[in-house]
Amino acid sequence: MSLQGQRVLVIGGSSGMGEAGVRALAAVGARVVMADRKEAPHDLGAELVLTIDIADDDQIGSVVAKAGEHLGGLDAVWNNAGICHVGTVESMELQAFDLSFALNVRANAVLARAALPRLREAGGGSLLFTASAASIMVAKGSLPYIVSKSALLTMTRQLALEYAGDNIRVNALCPGWVDTPFNAPVWEMFGGRESFLQKVPELVPLHRMGTVGEFGAIVRFILSEDARFMTGQAVVVDGGESLIKGPAR
Ligand SMILES: NC(=O)c1ccc[n+]([C@@H]2O[C@H](COP(=O)([O-])OP(=O)(O)OC[C@H]3O[C@@H](n4cnc5c(N)ncnc54)[C@H](O)[C@@H]3O)[C@@H](O)[C@H]2O)c1
Repeated sequence: MSLQGQRVLVIGGSSGMGEAGVRALAAVGARVVMADRKEAPHDLGAELVLTIDIADDDQIGSVVAKAGEHLGGLDAVWNNAGICHVGTVESMELQAFDLSFALNVRANAVLARAALPRLREAGGGSLLFTASAASIMVAKGSLPYIVSKSALLTMTRQLALEYAGDNIRVNALCPGWVDTPFNAPVWEMFGGRESFLQKVPELVPLHRMGTVGEFGAIVRFILSEDARFMTGQAVVVDGGESLIKGPAR
């Protein structure tokens, strides 16, 4: 497999799509360092597990340095950690707006600053952010999330353009509804998880939420040599949801 021996740092891999991604990468021989703010499953398959809060710039720098040191360099870095705050421009807390930009945008910029020199040293590599199908849509009641994830997609494209000359690819994974606890604030908007599940067939043309395993396979593809001509892309995997809501641009 083209990922055999590749040195990968994953942030936010203790659960959900991040966990599935780490497992999928390790299964094909990638060497993975994983960092998260919560404890990881014991059988995750990462060589090294570190603690991080992506709200802290120093911790991001230190995790990139430790991962690079442990693996002897870095070929790929993926941040899956993010935050979901909902509300309209009037109902949201301004603090929620700031936090959304701090974690969904700024932390990814700090990570890119720390990781790019390592990827350059390796002769090129791959940087992956978890954005959202919300990055290409607008939807009522989710202003802090949608606006920050749109900004992350724009930053992805900007970085892809700036660093293509260094053979560094930068892409954004843009999931639709995936069945993870991350969605708890949104389920509340629908009156709880059960009510939300009843709405899913209306919201998603494929009539279901995605499973984390499906995302593990997609991340493995994006980071692999098989995707070597792909950069600056929103990799939208949403069961067709964006076909209904339509792209925002
Ligand atoms: N689940 C969905 O429907 C969905 C849809 C679109 C986009 N996303 C994006 O996927 C990512 C979340 O993945 P998930 O759905 O698998 O959720 P998840 O909650 O299962 O996993 C997120 C992981 O990130 C870690 N994390 C969160 N905040 C952190 C922080 N400040 N510092 C370090 N680690 C932190 C958590 O501990 C957790 O292990 C987010 O970026 C989110 O915006 C999710």
